[in-house]
Amino acid sequence: MNSLSILLYFGCLATIFQGQDCYDDQGNAQMCSPPFVNAAFNRSVQATNTCGQAGPTEFCPFSRWGQPLPCQVCDAQSPRTRHPPQMTTDTEFPRTWWQSDTMLDGIRYPVVINLTLDFKKAYDITYTNLRFQTAIPESFAIYKKTTESSDWTPYQFFSASCRSTYGKPGRRFPTTADEAICTNQYSDLFPLTGGRVPFSTLGSRPGAFSFDNNPVLQEWVTASAIRISLTRMNTFGDEDFGGDTVLKSYYYAISDISVGARCKCNGHASECYTPDGQESDREVCRCQHNTAGVDCEKCLPMYNDKPWARATSSSANQCQRCECNNKADSCSFDQDLYQRTGRGGRCVDCRDNTDGPHCERCKDNHYLRSSDGRCTPCDCDPVGSDTLQCDGTGQCQCKSGYTGEKCTRSSSTS
Ligand SMILES: *[C@@H]1O[C@H](CO)[C@@H](O)[C@H](O)[C@H]1NC(C)=O
Ligand SMILES: *[C@@H]1O[C@H](CO)[C@@H](O)[C@H](O)[C@H]1NC(C)=O
Repeated sequence: MNSLSILLYFGCLATIFQGQDCYDDQGNAQMCSPPFVNAAFNRSVQATNTCGQAGPTEFCPFSRWGQPLPCQVCDAQSPRTRHPPQMTTDTEFPRTWWQSDTMLDGIRYPVVINLTLDFKKAYDITYTNLRFQTAIPESFAIYKKTTESSDWTPYQFFSASCRSTYGKPGRRFPTTADEAICTNQYSDLFPLTGGRVPFSTLGSRPGAFSFDNNPVLQEWVTASAIRISLTRMNTFGDEDFGGDTVLKSYYYAISDISVGARCKCNGHASECYTPDGQESDREVCRCQHNTAGVDCEKCLPMYNDKPWARATSSSANQCQRCECNNKADSCSFDQDLYQRTGRGGRCVDCRDNTDGPHCERCKDNHYLRSSDGRCTPCDCDPVGSDTLQCDGTGQCQCKSGYTGEKCTRSSSTS
């Protein structure tokens, strides 16, 4: 750890890294966003293999330019020689790293090792940055999950053998907004330590300049988890005839995983936080603009008068309050009503016997009693009345032969 900390330190001085307020000095709503952070920082990492877990094992590193160095021990039980995945996102100095078992222990294509970081909430990812303790692998991939429940989808493949390893052509630039390319740009064997691999989610991607209006790209940069999938090591080609020492010199090791990102709030929050009583690393947006939800992805219950939308640089797209005449606590958006009247909020569960999209009238078979202004049941007698709906004074329409306000009496007996 941690080149990004330094970058972020200076970055904090630049406004681009800061969060943006959701209201301007005059109180007008504007697009806003949480601060730019390293979303990997201090986060827990799951690895499908870590060296020394079945007892101490030996590995034999190379110097940067290929000198064999003395062999060392990895022991998951020893604080001094363990290399757990947490060491890719920690703050320890000198540099600490995660390490896998060696080729001698069976880590070899097609055995794949995955390292997974779960953000437990959507983030807008700007870049990832990996720093290997070894040479950069010959083939590896970055995957993401868009939402917690979605499948893993590829973000990018890095390989000197794109076709044979991943079945994809080698490419420098994507041709569509959400194409995961395979690049051979970072697959050199040298240097044998400290190789860095940056990946920018938007860089040179079609549509990046109209991001606000590009839902495909907006989804592309969204990730709630990131996975690094290590497929094939870089070697000198001596793994098939070299001895044990050669096989012990081949393993995966990563010293730093950084993820430059903002907590995703769809332009409606300048901060994410952990609600009381939640796991300490499960955040939600502090939603503004009358929005709600973990990612401010919907309107507050009483604010569905027009469709929810992301904030853009030209409009905050605040959610609008519904008119329910104080007779309801929530409304739902009704497209048809919106097109007919310009107000789409249909009030839900109108109180006090009111009804209508805005609770603006009495329910059927009720009337507005003038003495107290309340919607009151007509209570028309079903036998004696033509209809159960009374008039504005509460008088029911009686069938011939019936009379009275509620038509309960037969005329003959009256
Ligand atoms: C890292 O996370 C742990 C809990 O997982 C927390 O106790 C610690 O304060 C965090 N360290 C930093 C530097 O944020
Ligand atoms: C590694 O990740 C890939 C991509 O998500 C997945 O297909 C594979 O099953 C994973 N392998 C292991 C060992 O977890």
